[in-house]
Amino acid sequence: MLVLGIESSCDETGVALYHAERGLLAHAVHSQVDLHEAYGGVVPELASRDHIRRLAPLLRKVMAEAGAGLDEIGAVAYTAGPGLAGALLVGASFAESLAFSLRVPALPVHHLEGHLLSPLLSTDPPHFPFVALLASGGHTQLMRVSAVGQYELLGETLDDAAGEAFDKTAKLLGLGYPGGPQLARLAEAGRPGRYKLPRPMIYSGDLDFSFSGLKTAVLTLVRGQALGETDRADLCVDFQAAIVDVLVAKSLLALKQTGLQQLVVAGGVGANRALRAALDAGAAKIRARVFYPELELCTDNGAMIAFAGAMRLAAGAKTGRDGVFSVRPRWDLQLAGG
Ligand code: KG4
Ligand code: ZN
Repeated sequence: MLVLGIESSCDETGVALYHAERGLLAHAVHSQVDLHEAYGGVVPELASRDHIRRLAPLLRKVMAEAGAGLDEIGAVAYTAGPGLAGALLVGASFAESLAFSLRVPALPVHHLEGHLLSPLLSTDPPHFPFVALLASGGHTQLMRVSAVGQYELLGETLDDAAGEAFDKTAKLLGLGYPGGPQLARLAEAGRPGRYKLPRPMIYSGDLDFSFSGLKTAVLTLVRGQALGETDRADLCVDFQAAIVDVLVAKSLLALKQTGLQQLVVAGGVGANRALRAALDAGAAKIRARVFYPELELCTDNGAMIAFAGAMRLAAGAKTGRDGVFSVRPRWDLQLAGG
């Protein structure tokens, strides 16, 4: 069965075709980074309008790449939340009307479920149960994943997400949007240890996080200072180390508390190289393994949505074909259940 996946929750339009037996056949992403750059962040109305422009050409592209016809599509999965309401509505309307016209089921998918299952698309996938660290622009969560649809929240951020902290700090340092990758790039030129930054909640004993104080600590350090390129690089490497230390400590604690030995890392921050190196080293010490999605599937894409949809169908998900749908800008993953 061929499942089409549509992602439009924020500033990437993603379309992909996943085949239940043959795997991922094609996927294409259009990033809106250039569109929003001048504003220093995502402008929701511009995002929605651009998704409208991109979806049909991206669909044509993946169909051609896979050498498949529309009549071969067996189901259409799309991100129904969480995300920007207007942006979600564009993808949802496109997916639902396409499914309706093809007389196939449409499947609303939780965006974080897509991220969380995306490492299963790699050639060396993890097996259930595992611990997942979800670190994106809007979420930082540790989950126990027992099966498709069975997600137990172990801990989460009490304020800013890790990606948000990267983005806000990058903005503070005058780096472009999106801040995370730019800050990480500058950090590679930095010398560690010059700036002392806190590791919020690292010894709290629970699996919650707090990152907003870190951004304030950077603000206090840079206020009234004229930072040169070297200073900024040094600050970036120490800021990145603070986030990485906390994410690693809590992820290892989650493995210890659950008694599990597989950690899956998903979401945009999972693309961070310093985080990957520290997680791999920390896990090796306790004989655990860390699994990542392919690098191109770390950030938002349609492949993870097509795959999550296919997994849901395989697990016997109920599907409607009545053309009635809604989107959920706020949506608790645990309530997305199976
Ligand atoms: O999962 P994602 O693509 O979109 C959301 O669903 O939020 O995550 C985007 C977040 C942004 O905050 C971005 O700055 C961060 O992931 N990010 C990174 C890196 N690449 C993306 N943060 C740190 N280092 C990176 N290399
Ligand atoms: Zn995402």
